[in-house]
Amino acid sequence: MILDFGGQYTQLIARRVRELSVYCEIVPFHEAMGKIEASRPAGVILSGSPDSVCREGSPSLPPEFFNAGMPVLGICYGLQLLTRQLGGRVVSGSGRREFGKAMVDVLDADMLFAGIPQRFQAWMSHGDRVEDLAPGFRVLAKSGDIVAAAADADRKFWGLQFHPEVVHTHYGKEILENFLSRACNCKRDWTMSAFIETTVQAIAGRVGSQHAICGLSGGVDSTVAALLVRKAIGDRLTCIFVDNGLLRKNEFESVLASLSERQHLKIIGVDASRRFLSRLQNVEDPETKRKIIGEEFIRVFEKEAQKLGNPPFLVQGTLYPDVIESTSVRGPSAVIKSHHNVGGLPLDLKFELIEPLRELFKDEVRRVGEQLGMDPRFVYRQPFPGPGLAVRILGPVTARRLSLLREADAVMQEEIEREGLTRELWQAFVVLLPINTVGVMGDDRTYENVAALRAVTSLDGMTADWARLPHAVLERISTRIVNEVRGINRVVYDITSKPPGTIEWE
Ligand code: XMP
Repeated sequence: MILDFGGQYTQLIARRVRELSVYCEIVPFHEAMGKIEASRPAGVILSGSPDSVCREGSPSLPPEFFNAGMPVLGICYGLQLLTRQLGGRVVSGSGRREFGKAMVDVLDADMLFAGIPQRFQAWMSHGDRVEDLAPGFRVLAKSGDIVAAAADADRKFWGLQFHPEVVHTHYGKEILENFLSRACNCKRDWTMSAFIETTVQAIAGRVGSQHAICGLSGGVDSTVAALLVRKAIGDRLTCIFVDNGLLRKNEFESVLASLSERQHLKIIGVDASRRFLSRLQNVEDPETKRKIIGEEFIRVFEKEAQKLGNPPFLVQGTLYPDVIESTSVRGPSAVIKSHHNVGGLPLDLKFELIEPLRELFKDEVRRVGEQLGMDPRFVYRQPFPGPGLAVRILGPVTARRLSLLREADAVMQEEIEREGLTRELWQAFVVLLPINTVGVMGDDRTYENVAALRAVTSLDGMTADWARLPHAVLERISTRIVNEVRGINRVVYDITSKPPGTIEWE
């Protein structure tokens, strides 16, 4: 169990633990005792925090936590909390913040550092530091004159001042592995095949002989969710895939073909493009576009569900980060989640939800997809926003503008694919701007649309960096778009990172 104190790396800790084939869950620190009693974890990791234990009223744990007898690993704030609550002294590092890479010297290769070199690089990010250890603790490692690791092995408390979950910490994975296997005796049994087996069984038991429906978006999450449920209940799952007229070139046909013919999902493809486009006529405001698309989607979905006799179960591809987000100590994040609700279903739809991916991170979902035999090109598809091309056409959405954007975007996709860049980019796409500029083609003056190319690298979409695409690739995309797409005479490249920009332009 990972107790979250609001640290920026909490999810990363969980992913590292899962990578070591150990199942873990993130729990807000203030729910610790209830959750510990309910699930009896093999061990607990305390996350970092933007807060300071030296501040009055900062997050802490009830005294009984420290008597529960479980192995505990405190990371950064976690170490400081252990120190402070167990009777040691932590001081505020006024003027002495340690941030970035630092060298750690192991003084005592206690089991946490077994098999690890005596000196290694670690990632520090803290203002406070341990001044006096709590009684019973001894120093395991130092970074300069700062305590980098300490332990009271008898009482099963360990603490690290640095972040083992971050790639800049060499041997971080080994340190976590030592904690999990040597201190907690965790079984390494969290594998995707085990997950598939237990999930499929559970779904089969829950649905019994009844029916379920699933709204496919064409993305990985809803598809993997549908495949898991199909494995459990076979043809009693019906999927609905709506063409809202805002998909990319050939997307509706190719997704339908790939999922129904290759994956044998029972899919009803609904061409609702006309009604979406007619409702979007003359709408410029991006939020209004999103609302209209969301509403329209629900209408279409309800109608199809009715035709199917309103099956009691609805399958959704909710992932673990969404679940954590809604219970996080930081509260529901406003960053990208508001987007994700758009196109979601209203609460008064009387379905019981089946969310087979609720426990998984995106990389785990992809592994499940691969194990279920999905085409790797599908599994590693880049994210695509629910409201589709409508948020990539700035200004009114018309059939002509959609067609311009589709053609230009197809060029970009082809060139990125040809360079083998698709997987290393979080997203690459084209945005159609609401302005015309002057150009010259042959002997003629043109006055046509501008296309902006957007390509970013990112781990989770929360932050992103603009991709340093090779100039030759940018040149090819630009030349091809201007030559092949009549109506676009200028191409620009977006070099804004997130923050301060967002990935989509809207
Ligand atoms: P922004 O533009 O906020 O986007 O930086 C962050 C990521 O979220 C994707 N996105 C969406 N995904 N439904 C989705 O499933 C949506 O409505 C939606 N809107 C944005 C966006 O493509 C980027 O990867």
